[in-house]
Amino acid sequence: MDETTRVRLSHIQGVPFPETVVKYWARVEKFQASKEDLLIATYPKAGTTWTQEVVDGILNEGDVEKCRRAPTQMRMPFLEMTSKDGLSSGIAKLELMDSPRVIKTHLPIQLVPQSFWDAGCKVIYMARNPKDTVVSYFHFDRMHLHQPETGSWPQYLEKFMTGQLGWGSWYDHVKGYWKERHTKKILYIFYEDMQEDPVREVIRIAQFLERQLSKSTIENIVQMTTFSAMRENPMANYSSIPDTVFDRTVSEFMRKGEVGDWKNHFSAEEDAAFEEHYRKIMADCPIPIRVPT
Ligand code: A3P
Repeated sequence: MDETTRVRLSHIQGVPFPETVVKYWARVEKFQASKEDLLIATYPKAGTTWTQEVVDGILNEGDVEKCRRAPTQMRMPFLEMTSKDGLSSGIAKLELMDSPRVIKTHLPIQLVPQSFWDAGCKVIYMARNPKDTVVSYFHFDRMHLHQPETGSWPQYLEKFMTGQLGWGSWYDHVKGYWKERHTKKILYIFYEDMQEDPVREVIRIAQFLERQLSKSTIENIVQMTTFSAMRENPMANYSSIPDTVFDRTVSEFMRKGEVGDWKNHFSAEEDAAFEEHYRKIMADCPIPIRVPT
């Protein structure tokens, strides 16, 4: 592995981000959203790509070919991301697109550019239970050669619990959007609910987007966005990202797509400490996140 490709973390208003995000932050902060734009917001590894594909499926009424028109990151650019060489960025892609645009972000709510709120944009926020999120993030950071070094699993878990990973504290992130869900146009959904009943959740998202879809279209969208369908779809599986960025000998982007994989990673002691910390830190904001035991 080429250690020199790894980035460091730097801070924006006290929240850690890859230094590439910080370097170009002024452009992100000034981004002008239009009222038809839709923001898909998540903490990293919560099921962002899955949500994006479901939304694109809904907006294109389950038309598989239309949804395969380009890779995910071209169809629904990543707002705050700039490549390490500075040559490609979410902002540059968005500026070439007409509204309505579907925009991905991992920004915590307090850092979402003001223009989204001024324009009254809709936001879909997906949360995933923190144990599977941190496991997924660990494997992602191991394989993503432009992310910071992970260190060992125990070190990584500690960083997650203390909000030291890129995009900051998972706890603050999920709480931030939860608290604003009624004051802003935020649909708050859960990865575990999507796994449990994708038809129900696709209908919820379609209703939020004010799209009337037939039963068979909804079924098509569910079939297009299963883990196995997305893993085989070159326009949804990030296979366009070069091996110099994603080291696929280490892990896959479409890795497992399961609820409960944390059990293969946490020791009994880590789980007990995590549970205790979770209870304390979430006590002021009880969100119905199903943490599988
Ligand atoms: P795992 O690493 O646990 O497999 P994001 O898109 O936010 O980066 O999240 C990636 C995680 O979502 C990965 O989790 C990935 O496998 C999972 N994922 C992607 N598409 C999915 C789908 N259609 N169904 C279930 N999980 C999916």
